[in-house]
Amino acid sequence: MAAIGTVVATPDSPSLENIEFIIDKNAQPQIERGQFVTIPKNKNQVVLGIITSIKKYNAYYETIDSSIHEISSRNYEAIFPIKEWENTLANAKPLGEINFTNERITRLKFPVSPGSKIYVASSSIVSKFLGLDKNGIYWGDLSSNNVKIRVSLSRLLRKHLAILAISGAGKSYAASILLEELHKTGSISVLVIDPHGEYSSMVPTNVENTNTKVIRGSFISIGIPELSAWEISEFIPEISVVQTRVLDNIISNIRKKNRNHYGLQDIIQIIDTSEKINVRTKEALIGWLYSLQRTHLFSTETSPNLSELFQPGKIVILDLSEITNLRSRSIIVLHFLSRLYYQRTRGEIPPSLFVIEEAHQFCPQGSRSISKRIIETIAREGRKFYASLCLISQRPVNLSVTALSQCNTNLILRIRNPYDQDFIGKTSEGIDRSTLKMIPDLEIGEALLVGEGINYPTFFRIRSRTFYNKVTSPDLETMADKYKEAWSVKRNTS
Ligand SMILES: Nc1ncnc2c1ncn2[C@@H]1O[C@H](COP(=O)(O)OP(=O)(O)OP(=O)(O)O)[C@@H](O)[C@H]1O
Ligand SMILES: [Mg+2]
Repeated sequence: MAAIGTVVATPDSPSLENIEFIIDKNAQPQIERGQFVTIPKNKNQVVLGIITSIKKYNAYYETIDSSIHEISSRNYEAIFPIKEWENTLANAKPLGEINFTNERITRLKFPVSPGSKIYVASSSIVSKFLGLDKNGIYWGDLSSNNVKIRVSLSRLLRKHLAILAISGAGKSYAASILLEELHKTGSISVLVIDPHGEYSSMVPTNVENTNTKVIRGSFISIGIPELSAWEISEFIPEISVVQTRVLDNIISNIRKKNRNHYGLQDIIQIIDTSEKINVRTKEALIGWLYSLQRTHLFSTETSPNLSELFQPGKIVILDLSEITNLRSRSIIVLHFLSRLYYQRTRGEIPPSLFVIEEAHQFCPQGSRSISKRIIETIAREGRKFYASLCLISQRPVNLSVTALSQCNTNLILRIRNPYDQDFIGKTSEGIDRSTLKMIPDLEIGEALLVGEGINYPTFFRIRSRTFYNKVTSPDLETMADKYKEAWSVKRNTS
């Protein structure tokens, strides 16, 4: 492999923090910021570094005099080979020393020498340094080093994961790649909370042939007989303890009579006709229960039976796009997450991953949400039971700090808002200032992986989908054509 450059001597390089090098002219097209490089020290040892900046240099333009020359009318380019004096310099941050004899990576103790040759790091060195796993989740590519970013599943889900970026940066796309890979490994089951129907539209239409099951909001119902009064009271944050106790009494009486087919209306009727409950409690309880009834989410039976669908390698998508009310959505999230989490703690369902889109809505910082408690509980305790979260959000500052601080692997795509950037810098361990500066410039599908899942913060490109539909949202022209067609059919038939 040919060298890409030579280490130069400048006041602050080569040092333990910085290696400046001049890039060979014909190597320039293959050089990128974020690329890993090696500098051989001897036969058994190389220093590994990462390119942090690239700049152009031309001695001719270095002094103020040369600019004056430019302004004057003489054509200096005809006299001097000015263009040839232009050089490209790069800075690399040393990351460690790799010893091939004992396969160990250690901290750099002594700088490399000026004049040393510098090479593009081989994929095997980079994979080892990053702690990648050849059987891991294939999320994308670090093409400048020809490395497949294959993240160890157990490292990734040892705790929890967050995918953070502005709208349209590719969060859902990146999450769908994770789902494709989890299909293949077949070891865990996944629930996706999909408020906008983004995931349901990517599932191939012959759903029967896949392991992905889409459940639309209108098919969801929560069975009242399955719920205790205390569980019902979680849907009504304003309900008092006294009112919940009264409800508890009523439900106990119904259960004593072996009735297992009752709904909210039956409970309301019992309260209404009861002579033992005082008027104020009666009115308040009936009011709360009517407010639940208006959501049209409650019935005498729960549907679907998620625990039956929850098999290793299976993915269940709860498409909540038909349910526009945030409270109703939060009720669904609370109910199904609580059920599945409880079953997981008892080992009744396989190790699970709960992917929550718009996580800042379901688990907000500084405001109340019905589903917040269960998400924070899983964030704090889920690890012990192999129940992991993947929180996806475009507003990390609005996401519960309790939940986000437990996400110790973060996949960050483009973020523009300075508050969010600042927040990421504070909450994601291991991101330095130069890395943070690159986040607003990321293109769609480019990501930074940082935290427990990988040994060093790494920028890479998310791979293309292979199983799910390639495009989720059709472009404007395709949409317009579809509507035009529908209109002409309608006109011709009417
Ligand atoms: N890695 C990628 N390769 C190819 N196309 C991509 C990639 N990432 C995103 N896209 C495309 O970019 C568009 C936006 O991506 P996506 O829907 O994943 O963004 P998002 O961050 O989830 O946005 P929102 O916050 O609005 O939900 C989609 O049309 C998607 O197909
Ligand atoms: Mg999305």
